[in-house]
Amino acid sequence: MSQSVLGSAGVAAQAGRRRTFAVISHPDAGKSTMTEALALHARVIGQAGAVHGKGDRRGVVSDWMAMEQERGISVTSAALQFSYRDTVINLLDTPGHADFSEDTYRVLTAVDSAVMLLDAAKGLEPQTLKLFEVCRQRGIPVMTFINKWDRPGLDALALMDEIEQRIGLRPTPLTWPVGIAGHFHGVVDRRTGVFTRMQRSPGGADLAIEEEMSAAEAAQQFGGDWDTANEELELLALSEADYDEKDFLAGRSTPVLFGAAVANLGVRQLLNVLLELAPAPSARPTVSGTDRPVDGTFSGFVFKIQANMNRTHRDQLAFVRVCSGRFERGMVVTHAGTGKPFTTKYAQQMFGQGRDTIDEAFPGDVIGLVNATALGIGDTLYAGDAVQFPPLPSFPPEHFAVVRTSDTSTFKRFRRGIEQLDGEGVVQVLRSEQRGDQAPVFAAVGPMQFEVATHRLEAEFGVKVQLDRLPYEVAARTDAAGREILRTEANVEVMTRVRDGALLAVFPHKWRMRTIAGRHPELRLD
Ligand code: G4P
Repeated sequence: MSQSVLGSAGVAAQAGRRRTFAVISHPDAGKSTMTEALALHARVIGQAGAVHGKGDRRGVVSDWMAMEQERGISVTSAALQFSYRDTVINLLDTPGHADFSEDTYRVLTAVDSAVMLLDAAKGLEPQTLKLFEVCRQRGIPVMTFINKWDRPGLDALALMDEIEQRIGLRPTPLTWPVGIAGHFHGVVDRRTGVFTRMQRSPGGADLAIEEEMSAAEAAQQFGGDWDTANEELELLALSEADYDEKDFLAGRSTPVLFGAAVANLGVRQLLNVLLELAPAPSARPTVSGTDRPVDGTFSGFVFKIQANMNRTHRDQLAFVRVCSGRFERGMVVTHAGTGKPFTTKYAQQMFGQGRDTIDEAFPGDVIGLVNATALGIGDTLYAGDAVQFPPLPSFPPEHFAVVRTSDTSTFKRFRRGIEQLDGEGVVQVLRSEQRGDQAPVFAAVGPMQFEVATHRLEAEFGVKVQLDRLPYEVAARTDAAGREILRTEANVEVMTRVRDGALLAVFPHKWRMRTIAGRHPELRLD
């Protein structure tokens, strides 16, 4: 069925059924466990564990990249799609752990909301804060799930304070736990007042056992824990902690839920909140200043490129977030940057580590285009009415290394390889005046990006390189006047980002940056 047959009302209805989000969390907070629990609830997979090859389920190892295999980690973002009731949920993976990289941030350009998953014993942790900052900058509404309530942790009210104090987001708990962390009996729904007792199923692998209980019954069963929860609920009622849609969508407040993903406790409530409160895909700003409505003709943008996922085919997969219209496999779309046609015969949908061919997709969905060597990060594709989405932001790098090849006979390939990696966004490539073209500088958000880059230079371009880490940790944009000022300072270097010509001042640490900025109030650093 083509879009004209489905009609724009049909496309708008499909967009309205979609929820596209990512889970942001620090390693070990339980993101993989939550992903599996959500999918289990949606009954897409019969048994938790079919999605990520982790832990004792390591049997499901991806064969995408040799390095991935050796290290037993996933370098690739997977987009997981499942239906729950009448809603299509697209859960985009933000790689964590050692593979934290620009890719992780870029995923957040393709979502409409995020779930911030906190470990009840640890509260806000560094990686969560970094990811949250990106959500804030991009205006992405954030829901919060306090995980691991089944084992000892921090006090619930103290966690609410921490969220408010440290990130300035007003917590509006939708559910409230009865029982401290480690003695979890269930939650009170703050909007209805209904208490649901929750127990893990025997073995914990199946949905939780839930039972609604009257206040009298709960008081009898849980005594002091019930009283404490009620006192806390009264405090919350007095402290502007009620859900407010406008504040949530504007990124001023965050709905909060409690649970334990490993035992499937509170996961159903989270899914329901995603359906009820998380925003559906909406019109997207374009470079012309007008928004592309979801029911326009097809458009999308590339937010991630994955090369060599399949060693026998050496292909390159571009992940496209659909922004408007109906995508149909085989349709010929236009690449906005070059104006050239691009055929989508090999469109795929990612499900964990497997791939399925897809026939159609709607706003909010993610499609993987195979053999997409002509596509780069941030590129716009469209059919029908022309459109161009703004380029994806570059994220401030925190790791820097000079890259050299000692074999001059491979220099041409070295240059070509570096250009390719830069275009794909594997690393940012900087040019330093003092080092020259022979020794470009790689800059990255996470050190794993360096490993991927050197591995690919060797495997795909046959170039062995040596990487020397530079003692810098902070970068800020500056301008030509700034470059002149910084020439007079020690312990700072100005480099040009090859991709967009931006001037980056790099410092060993933020204190050095602050000292220099303090000495030169006219200096542009942002
Ligand atoms: P990540 O993707 O965020 O890194 O976290 P992951 O899901 O791998 O979970 C990290 C650890 O935390 C795992 O334990 C997992 O079982 C545990 N976990 C996740 N959710 C909960 C929860 O709600 N309650 C409790 N008590 N634990 C939870 P592990 O020992 O590292 O691995 P495993 O052997 O249990 O798989």
